[in-house]
Amino acid sequence: MLKEKKIAFIGAGNMAEALVKGLLNSPLGIKPENLLMSDIRKDRLDFLSQKYAVQVSPSNPSVARKADILILAVKPQNIREVLTDIAPEVTRDKLVISIAAGVKLQTIQDLLETGVRVVRTMPNTPALVQAGASAIAPGKWASPEDLQMAKAIFDAVGITIIVDEKLIDAVTGLSGSGPAYIFLVINALADGGVKMGFSKDVALKLAAQTVLGAAKLVLETGEHPAKLIDMVTSPGGTTIAGLHALEKGGLHGIFMDAVEAATLRSIELGR
Ligand SMILES: NC(=O)c1ccc[n+]([C@@H]2O[C@H](COP(=O)([O-])OP(=O)(O)OC[C@H]3O[C@@H](n4cnc5c(N)ncnc54)[C@H](OP(=O)(O)O)[C@@H]3O)[C@@H](O)[C@H]2O)c1
Repeated sequence: MLKEKKIAFIGAGNMAEALVKGLLNSPLGIKPENLLMSDIRKDRLDFLSQKYAVQVSPSNPSVARKADILILAVKPQNIREVLTDIAPEVTRDKLVISIAAGVKLQTIQDLLETGVRVVRTMPNTPALVQAGASAIAPGKWASPEDLQMAKAIFDAVGITIIVDEKLIDAVTGLSGSGPAYIFLVINALADGGVKMGFSKDVALKLAAQTVLGAAKLVLETGEHPAKLIDMVTSPGGTTIAGLHALEKGGLHGIFMDAVEAATLRSIELGR
């Protein structure tokens, strides 16, 4: 049971805070005294211990020693030094979860004792508002129970899918980079509104809420987007005129190209 485990975050930045917030607000019954955080920034640790009543320490190895589940939440360039630092404490009874973008399971496993269970994850920034889309991939020694444990943690900040590691680059191209594509869409929709006479802030509100509402409809009805489009597209009406303009611009292909380009770039960066 997750609520009986000590969950430690190495690196107490934005993502770690989002997960702590999500875990404490989730129905999992996790208590702040079971959450531990370490970071090189003392001000950050003071802030988090005051805000969430979690346990904090400036020492990565001491936090690693106490943990049942270790979440590596430092920047990818700091992963190697952190793993070298904590490796003597990371015994096989602990589960290691990495959120470091682009850091392969093999790299992490190689720096730890043989047999340590590792899960790699790729969350996205909407996790900061508990609306994330995360993917998790099992390492060589991770069990189905480990995966379920990792899934429960990331479900606390949104939805989670389980994938093979070879698909993590595609996850990066779709949901990892995806929020930026949608910010672009929201801004563009709002500019359309401004062109038609709205102030930008009103147009942005309408555009953002429209994206949120459309996404909720897809997720909550489970309907195919094409069916939802048909439902709002009356013959000779306004929506078909707008859709025609978008398709003339090749919108569908542009988004597919974007996901492909970001995935390929992720593969390239991982080499
Ligand atoms: N934010 C996202 O949307 C997102 C999405 C997917 C994956 N990720 C991954 O999540 C990880 C964390 O991202 P983030 O946005 O939360 O980063 P962040 O806010 O910079 O947090 C990282 C924290 O770790 C600290 N740190 C650096 N070196 C350390 C060390 N040796 N020991 C302990 N703490 C150390 C940093 O301190 P300093 O600031 O002083 O260096 C910082 O407080 C990254 O690997 C990133 O790839 C993030």
